[in-house]
Amino acid sequence: MSAAEKYFIDSSNMPLVLGNALRVPDYAYPAWGIAGSEEWLRKESDKQYEIEWKGGSPRQMQYVVEAITESGLGNYSQMLRDANAELVSKIVNKSKKRVNYLELGAGISTVTVYQKLISNNIDVEKVFGTLIEPSESRIEDTAKKLEGLGLKQKKNFKIIVARDLDIPMNVDINSQDIASYVAVLHHHAYLDTPLKAVYDSLKPNGYLIIADWHNTMWEHPSRIYEFLNEEFIWNNKERDLDNFVEMFPNALNETPEQDPLYENANINIKKFWKSYANIRKKEIEKGNFKAEDDIWMLEAHRPVEKQNQVLRSLGYELDGGDLQNPNPRRLVEDAGILYVTLAQKI
Ligand SMILES: C[S@@+](CC[C@H](N)C(=O)[O-])C[C@H]1O[C@@H](n2cnc3c(N)ncnc32)[C@H](O)[C@@H]1O
Repeated sequence: MSAAEKYFIDSSNMPLVLGNALRVPDYAYPAWGIAGSEEWLRKESDKQYEIEWKGGSPRQMQYVVEAITESGLGNYSQMLRDANAELVSKIVNKSKKRVNYLELGAGISTVTVYQKLISNNIDVEKVFGTLIEPSESRIEDTAKKLEGLGLKQKKNFKIIVARDLDIPMNVDINSQDIASYVAVLHHHAYLDTPLKAVYDSLKPNGYLIIADWHNTMWEHPSRIYEFLNEEFIWNNKERDLDNFVEMFPNALNETPEQDPLYENANINIKKFWKSYANIRKKEIEKGNFKAEDDIWMLEAHRPVEKQNQVLRSLGYELDGGDLQNPNPRRLVEDAGILYVTLAQKI
């Protein structure tokens, strides 16, 4: 067994694919009993995300939106896109020069940005988009949608099939006015490497916008164990849960206490996954569901404060000034599940 396989959770009979435990936030590794050299953990955790998204299909996002809407929580995906687009529009509006806009994990969020500029009567020629996304089919789909808005490749935007970690090979240093991540940064167990690459690509005073999902579900194996045990039924459940406990003995220890905002975030994210499991089951029964349409449950969501500690350690400034106050901004009143953070390279 390779070391990466050691942390692979066989969920072939489960109602959801969990993926590899190396995908949880780096600071949670001790709670999961994950050990190894830091170099290896960094490399392997990136790989565990890449295999999910590189071959991803546009239907992945469609199912995410259907699941979140069906769960009764509202279209969280669109709320994040709208919040990003609003900030981009404000920054472009106050700029006297053409703005270089870099989007990591570009998609419908990019279309939302251009739609917002158009609806705010801002000349789209004032923006040049560099759109980075590892899934070829997804970025091509996005390019088509942008062309549908009258935008042209090379003149208004360019697409690059790559990851944010590949920024140094694709984007000049000190070249971008704005960089955005919309529902993307949580695809990294370690945040410092991608955020440093973005920092280097920004001009001095350039902005980074992170609009993302946050919760504490994946910080501790006991939260996953409890969720699976209490909310789902499947063939061989007992055997699968025994295996989970054998791999991650902390699963049977008490779940650590936490801030009520994150308790509520976890309640909401569990509703999302239950709803996603229902949609997935129905699509499988209809024979519509393909492996590339799937998303995996273990992710690197973390409280916004943990994300923002990393930003500060890299030299980003988090004073939202007249653009966003308070900063970060919470989008759901009683749950710390969606935040928009505005950071600046000083
Ligand atoms: C939840 S989707 C969000 C897409 C888009 N930003 C939107 O809001 O419509 C996450 C996207 O992040 C992309 N992604 C995953 N890892 C990435 C990475 N390391 N660099 C850039 N994009 C990544 C995935 O391929 C996927 O398209």
